[in-house]
Amino acid sequence: MNIEAILEQNSFTQQDIAALISVTDPRLCEKIRARAESILLERCGDIVWRRGLIEFSNVCARNCYYCGIRRAHKTVRRYTMTCEEIVEQATWCASQGYGSLVLQSGERQDSSFIDLVERCVRTIKERTRSALLPRGLGITLCIGEQSRQTYQRLFDAGAHRYLLRIESSSPHLFAAWHPSEQKLESRIACLKTLKAIGYQVGTGVMIGVPGQTVADLAADILFFRDMDIDMIGMGPYIVHPRTPFAHHAGQMAQNRQAVFERSLTMIAVTRIVLRDVNIAATTALQTMDPTGREQGLRHGANVVMPQLTPADHRADYLLYEGKPCLDETAQQCKGCLEARIAAAGRRTGCDDWGDANHFFARQSLKQ
Ligand code: 5AD
Repeated sequence: MNIEAILEQNSFTQQDIAALISVTDPRLCEKIRARAESILLERCGDIVWRRGLIEFSNVCARNCYYCGIRRAHKTVRRYTMTCEEIVEQATWCASQGYGSLVLQSGERQDSSFIDLVERCVRTIKERTRSALLPRGLGITLCIGEQSRQTYQRLFDAGAHRYLLRIESSSPHLFAAWHPSEQKLESRIACLKTLKAIGYQVGTGVMIGVPGQTVADLAADILFFRDMDIDMIGMGPYIVHPRTPFAHHAGQMAQNRQAVFERSLTMIAVTRIVLRDVNIAATTALQTMDPTGREQGLRHGANVVMPQLTPADHRADYLLYEGKPCLDETAQQCKGCLEARIAAAGRRTGCDDWGDANHFFARQSLKQ
């Protein structure tokens, strides 16, 4: 298929998308990248939004085969930050002009955990209102599958965005990556519930897991489109040696560069197909290459998530091997990221939630 002709189109079939994702010729990769960047600048502008990331607990009731904090991994030192610690990081984040925060953790449904999250959300909203941020920090939650009541409670407490990765939209891959107690349909139902409640909803997939094909990734992008998703967070799969997927290590080591490049292409193609969503340049990208996040920004991403997890907990939140910045303070991460955003030729957003234009577009269609 003629890649240059596909790039001129405004709508795309699964075959078109698969053809774009398969490109490896550097000249054509650059065309795809440049198209993604120009759509980004036209539809979203040149601002990169920061969301301070607090990985506030690594306690997890799930057992995903790829993840380093799965419940069966017994040597992980489990921690849960207190409400006071979390709020302290959040107020620092507001004072630095970040505008938004992501509260991420392992998945738990018990009431003491949900009570903690609700208390944190309410307290953060109260304590971070200021002349610059009259509505307080924007809060995104990333705490997995929960009941409708829980999602509603946390929305009422003041969280307004929610990230729940689908990991893969292929029923066959989802089943191969998770124990049978986890169901793709249940994740999809959660995404629909979150949207019905009024959250801005983010999802995403892992890229490069052995067995995943270009057709699967193309279907993932169509899934984002058909679910009318506002935000995307996706990145390369990276082996964690103490998981059931550790046997992929040899193959992943051989394919490292290809998986990194495919992740960048996925960001670019997602930007080309979805246009006005927010897309994050994820930590996993930077794990694979020290300039991974800048490269993500240059391929159409417009969100970064600087680490606010206190340094003494970072080494215990290892979803995969080789996570960067384990010994950096939140202050160091801030300076480093600002430099990376400037290096990508972009401006840093301040004191604003930085919601996705896609959300406003779908709201105005509803009225
Ligand atoms: N490699 C890359 N990403 C991973 N995640 C979990 N384990 C890994 C891994 N080994 C991602 C999942 C999850 C997010 C919080 O981290 O996509 O949704």
